[in-house]
Amino acid sequence: MKPLQCLILLMFVLFASAVARKNIASGGWSPIKNISDPHVTEIADYAVTEYAKRSGHKLKLEKVIKGETQVVAGVNYRLTLAATDGSSSNNYEAIVWEKVWQHFRNLTSFTPVHA
Ligand SMILES: *[C@@H]1O[C@H](CO)[C@@H](O)[C@H](O)[C@H]1NC(C)=O
Ligand SMILES: *[C@@H]1O[C@H](CO)[C@@H](O)[C@H](O)[C@H]1NC(C)=O
Repeated sequence: MKPLQCLILLMFVLFASAVARKNIASGGWSPIKNISDPHVTEIADYAVTEYAKRSGHKLKLEKVIKGETQVVAGVNYRLTLAATDGSSSNNYEAIVWEKVWQHFRNLTSFTPVHA
């Protein structure tokens, strides 16, 4: 190969890998269009119930505020939700990983957010 062709090819490869890295870094999260979808509510309810079970805190889902999904050998749901312990209400960010075909669902993260 001529040096110039070689340089152009090299630049193309660098550019393509930079684009690929950027896509991975942003994680490919896309907003859930309709957070009133019963399945979204079900995921949120699972997250709150699971967190309550693991932490020993009483917590009940009030509503889903917003949500995003990411496709990763299944679907990751990242939901902002409001939950109450009976006396006060707080916002949380929950991440639930679901593989529908395996009936697999796991709460990977549940953290308070300050709105
Ligand atoms: C969102 O989902 C709910 C429940 O399925 C449905 O009643 C409502 O019409 C949907 N809204 C939109 C904008 O699609
Ligand atoms: C579910 O997620 C928690 C927290 O990330 C992890 O400790 C646990 O091993 C996971 N369970 C399964 C079945 O993947």
